[in-house]
Amino acid sequence: MLSDNIKVSIYLLLVGCFLRRIVIAEIQMITYNEFLRLVVGPYYHQRFLLRTLRDGFFTAYNSNINPAMINEFTSACFRFGHSTSQGSFTEIPSSGNPTSFKLQNNFFHPFGLYQGQTELLVRGLADQLAQKSDNFVVEDLTNYLFRKMDDSFGLDLMAINVQRGRDHGIRPYVDYLRAIFNVRVTSFSNLRSLMPVTVVQKFE
Ligand code: HEM
Repeated sequence: MLSDNIKVSIYLLLVGCFLRRIVIAEIQMITYNEFLRLVVGPYYHQRFLLRTLRDGFFTAYNSNINPAMINEFTSACFRFGHSTSQGSFTEIPSSGNPTSFKLQNNFFHPFGLYQGQTELLVRGLADQLAQKSDNFVVEDLTNYLFRKMDDSFGLDLMAINVQRGRDHGIRPYVDYLRAIFNVRVTSFSNLRSLMPVTVVQKFE
């Protein structure tokens, strides 16, 4: 006979496993159906089977594909998210009057989270939009990354990204244009068909 303690443990384990599956399903839904669809757009979302199924099971799993992330993805591509980051975060108390705080003033300073700030912040995060993915990044990341309270400036995340690309042997941008789109770029003016002219001028 199982003791009551063991029965309770098994019961909690089963409930836990069940809840875990629900949380996984929710995160999958948000990541694949909502976030990725916005990031890659409806065409690639459909083409690369990124949408979750309405019913049934995914059967296209291919055990011959190496699931490891490619160097280019972590060292360059997915860092696009740095451009979507906000420089200030909204906090909404239950009374509903929002306030905000700057990211640059809060590196290494999470202590409010232990003093009731979490609820305000979660409400703010649910309300605040991310920025558009473009070629601009907030100065909280370009001039004040990891700024300590008494310092007047911090690090530059974009400079770190570029340097990290070099550390990882990421090839020049034009090499990827050639490999993926078969576009050959040999001068700045060739870039004009790929991006706004103001951006080409900045590169130049
Ligand atoms: C306030 C917001 C953020 C801050 C302060 C931040 C900061 C950082 C820092 C310090 C690194 C390490 C850089 C290095 O040493 O190479 C990093 C790496 C990275 N970040 Fe962010 N980041 C933020 C938001 C995001 C977002 C929104 C995304 C994507 C949606 C993102 C994607 C990445 C990726 C893919 C890496 C490389 C990870 C790896 O290679 O292991 N970051 N970030």
